[in-house]
Amino acid sequence: MDAFVAFKPFLTQVESSLTAQLGGEEPAPDDTLLLAARHLCLKAGKRARPMLVKIFGDTLGVPEARLVDPAVAAELIHAASLLHDDVVDNGMFRRGKPTVNARWGNIVAVMSGDLLLSGALLKLSKFDPRIAEAALATVTEMTRAAMDEVQARGNLDLTLEQLKAIGEGKTGSLFGFCGKAAALVAGDEEAARRFDAFGRRIGVAFQMADDIRDISGTDEGKPQYADLQSRTPNLPVVLAVSRDARLKHRIGEAWGWTALTADKIKELGTAVLVTGALDDATVLMNQEIDAAVDALGPYAQRESGENLVMWARTLARGIALKGAA
Ligand code: IPE
Ligand code: IPE
Ligand code: MG
Ligand code: MG
Repeated sequence: MDAFVAFKPFLTQVESSLTAQLGGEEPAPDDTLLLAARHLCLKAGKRARPMLVKIFGDTLGVPEARLVDPAVAAELIHAASLLHDDVVDNGMFRRGKPTVNARWGNIVAVMSGDLLLSGALLKLSKFDPRIAEAALATVTEMTRAAMDEVQARGNLDLTLEQLKAIGEGKTGSLFGFCGKAAALVAGDEEAARRFDAFGRRIGVAFQMADDIRDISGTDEGKPQYADLQSRTPNLPVVLAVSRDARLKHRIGEAWGWTALTADKIKELGTAVLVTGALDDATVLMNQEIDAAVDALGPYAQRESGENLVMWARTLARGIALKGAA
């Protein structure tokens, strides 16, 4: 973990650039969209994607100053996806605070997400149009996957492959973008391919870790069983119902009700826990991490490559790092 302390100066630059992007030190007090974006973005979040851009860039010897814009853009795209996701999921708590939709309503959350997205893409188009194009493709993929997840709601027959495809689209595509952006700056095509593959597998693992935390209740910033509440078949739920037909019936029946009480959610969540599905999910997550490391090929042997491997094995598991200032 100490290895990541070395990234602090870079993350400080990222914070300054993010603050500048969002109205600077003294934003206009009546700019609701910016205030909402600042509420989510500033002094909050692990900054996993900026850190990933930095580690990818180090592996290719890219000067730090050339990594700040792609890192900030990746964080802004991520933040926009969270603003929109909390509207879609009716999420009330994020990064240890009420969500923007909870505090300002859905309209402000959607518009402020759009503002972050357009800001990120504009920044990249000035920095390097090829990276802007890669980001646009990523946003398209994230949007499609978010919709696929909505369409999977209530579906307890969702396969592991379908679940992984959703995780790859929602999260892996942006992690892959972090690698592609660094590789485009370095002009290394093989790295672009390998880092994209690594990012995608790590993204699936990261999403699996997030699913595991939803059921284990170990995410301090979000309530336990939020996925069960929103009828989202996450990894432990899919694994649990595949080995317990009665539980599948119970969850399916409860998901058919118009109102789900907190007691009912807790009862179902506990039933998922006792199937041992979290252990199975952890095995699957570790398989993804191993596959990601394999995808790095010779880049894993480079001086900074070991940081990529370490990042994969720690942050992907969702261990909170103090990235934000
Ligand atoms: C949360 O991402 C959403 C998922 C992709 C699972 P992070 O875990 O990176 O969230 P923050 O940025 O630290 O809040
Ligand atoms: C967050 O994913 C949104 C994206 C990755 C685009 P989740 O829906 O899994 O995140 P939480 O669980 O609400 O944080
Ligand atoms: Mg969500
Ligand atoms: Mg989740």
